[in-house]
Amino acid sequence: MTHTITFTDRDEEVEAEDGQTVLQAILQGGIEYMHACGGFCNCTTCRVKIDEGMENVSDMKEDEKNTLRRFQGEEILEGPYRLSCQVKVHGDIKISEPEWY
Ligand code: FES
Repeated sequence: MTHTITFTDRDEEVEAEDGQTVLQAILQGGIEYMHACGGFCNCTTCRVKIDEGMENVSDMKEDEKNTLRRFQGEEILEGPYRLSCQVKVHGDIKISEPEWY
């Protein structure tokens, strides 16, 4: 079963296998995306904004929460931001690359 990940800030979309991480799917789809720690939940450079379909992704686990909190502050946990190397796809979603780096 595959799902579609659509970038709202660029004219690109990729297919994702059910349960695949967003990062795996977008890299496999040939899109360059920063992931400084190599997908080990230890930076936040891979973060994405989930614009639509938050109900179609996996819940945030403690590791992801801790990393986001450590690098970006507590308030980021209230927003639609996720680490693309941790968040798994279970349905169609729309994403964009956050502007702040
Ligand atoms: S690549 Fe570093 S946290 Fe995702």
